[in-house]
Order: sequence, then structure tokens, then C-alpha cells
Amino acid sequence: MKKKLDQILKKYHKRNENIIFLLQEVQESFGYIPREAIDYFARKLQIAPSKFYGVATFYAQFRLTPMGKNNITVCCGTACHVRGAERIISGLRRELGLDGENDTTEDGEFTLEEVACLGTCSFAPVVLVNGDVRGRANADRLVKEIRKMKKK
Ligand code: FES
Repeated sequence: MKKKLDQILKKYHKRNENIIFLLQEVQESFGYIPREAIDYFARKLQIAPSKFYGVATFYAQFRLTPMGKNNITVCCGTACHVRGAERIISGLRRELGLDGENDTTEDGEFTLEEVACLGTCSFAPVVLVNGDVRGRANADRLVKEIRKMKKK
């Protein structure tokens, strides 16, 4: 990890005030922003870690925890909301055993994300399962699909 972080740092060494670019590079490299990366940059650049966390938690694009192996993305835009996105989310959270603000299962198999409009409103409610579109989705079908995925 240190080697990759040094590469990122080198790329931005003259713009070290530009925390967002550093975080974007880290996220692209690791799929999330590891605490070690923030500690490393904070130490190297002599910037308080809280500044990195402030940026990382402000923008929805950043994750502070790793994604699961399987990613389920539920659209919560207006059309999908009206057509039952909340029921889908609660059904999937129950099936995956996600509580509180957890979006990833303890075994790291599934991440459940909520996003704004995916741009396919005529198929609402829309869910992506590992990037594949499930239009006119419903919780029962998705739960069955997840159970099949769990067996694999
Ligand atoms: S609101 Fe869900 S795809 Fe547009």
C-alpha cells in the first residue's frame, strides 16, 4: 500500500492542498479510502487527519470501508421512490442482516447502496446487481436472487 500511496503523493506533491484529488486517487486504487492512507498522507503532508475525513465524509463518492464482493445498488430517485424503492431497500436490508448505517454484510459478500436517479426511470423501480439492471424490480425477486448468490 505504501508504494501506491507514494505514487499518488508524487503525482500531487505540488498540489498537496488538494485533498479531494488525493482521495479520488486512493479510492480508485483501493476501492475505498483506508484509514492507513489518511494517516500516511496526514503525516507526510502535515495536514490534520480530520481535514481528510471532513472531505471524505462530505462527498458521497467516497467510501471509508471496503465494498462487498457483490454490489447491489437501489435507485432512490423520485420515480423509483414512488414505485416502491423503500420496500425494496427494507426487504434487502432484512435479507442481508444490515442494521444501523451498515451497508456491507459482515462477511464482506454484499454491499447495498442507495443512489439517486440511474436514468432509466421508465423501468422504475430500478436496481443494479453487480452492474446489471433489474427494471421493475421487487423485493421478493431480489431476495431470491441474493439467496442464489449466497449459495454460490
Ligand atoms: S428515479 Fe430511479 S431510475 Fe430514475
